[in-house]
Amino acid sequence: MHKLEGAVAWVTGAGRGIGAAVALELARAGSRVALTSRSADQLQTVQRQIQDHSGQSLILPCDVSDRAAVEKTALEIKNAWAPVQILINNAGSAVFAKIIQTREEDWDSMMQNNVKSAFLCCRAVLPDMIAAGSGQIVNIVSIAGRQPYYNCGAYCASKYALQGFTDVLRMEVRKHGIRVTAVLPGATDTAIWGDAHVERSRMMSAQQVAQTVAAVCCAQPPVMVEEILIRPQGGDL
Ligand SMILES: NC(=O)c1ccc[n+]([C@@H]2O[C@H](COP(=O)([O-])OP(=O)(O)OC[C@H]3O[C@@H](n4cnc5c(N)ncnc54)[C@H](OP(=O)(O)O)[C@@H]3O)[C@@H](O)[C@H]2O)c1
Repeated sequence: MHKLEGAVAWVTGAGRGIGAAVALELARAGSRVALTSRSADQLQTVQRQIQDHSGQSLILPCDVSDRAAVEKTALEIKNAWAPVQILINNAGSAVFAKIIQTREEDWDSMMQNNVKSAFLCCRAVLPDMIAAGSGQIVNIVSIAGRQPYYNCGAYCASKYALQGFTDVLRMEVRKHGIRVTAVLPGATDTAIWGDAHVERSRMMSAQQVAQTVAAVCCAQPPVMVEEILIRPQGGDL
């Protein structure tokens, strides 16, 4: 039997990159996976990949920085299957620039996509997790939530905020049997880098990060993985 057989997972930012890979890994572990991002076409590709592994998924396009849309999506998952048991707050975006050149709209979009989204999704699923006395939340932070990087003022600010949010959330809900994990990946080869001059061949793959996330979700109680930091071996990425 698969470790997550029948579990209901919700992966945000599941259309590509780390989120798509996490969705696939969770499906391989037996979970049913609700797929969310703003681009529906990318979710369809991921759904086909999950189907190829005989997995079950739901496509629910949604802007996870929009409260009403998030609450509607959580309800749709509950009505289709059951309340969310595993929430992967992965959706995120980055615009790299010196602070003096950072546009206000880019600051706002990173705060919305990287922090507010996690807050809204957690708030939408927590009442049912608390009622069930169990649940797993994984927030995809970043090493940029732990240490500063040049040209990453707004991104680092959003990820440091997400790390703080994650740590407080863990304190508040562990007594309800809910596990909260911060995953801090280093450089991973995805579209988030755009045309930034970083050597992609030295990065981790999205699948490698996803395997770590799946292992966190598969850990047998009473184990709670509080935090995992993974980075390419070179050490500077
Ligand atoms: N790649 C790295 O080196 C790295 C390292 C550490 C941490 N991370 C984090 O890992 C997460 C995934 O990043 P990635 O590298 O896989 O990037 P990516 O390939 O650009 O994927 C980002 C995903 O998030 C979705 N998304 C963004 N804003 C959203 C919103 N408001 N509502 C719904 N979906 C939204 C995107 O879809 P739409 O645009 O279609 O909505 C896309 O599916 C991010 O939180 C990122 O900060 C990445």
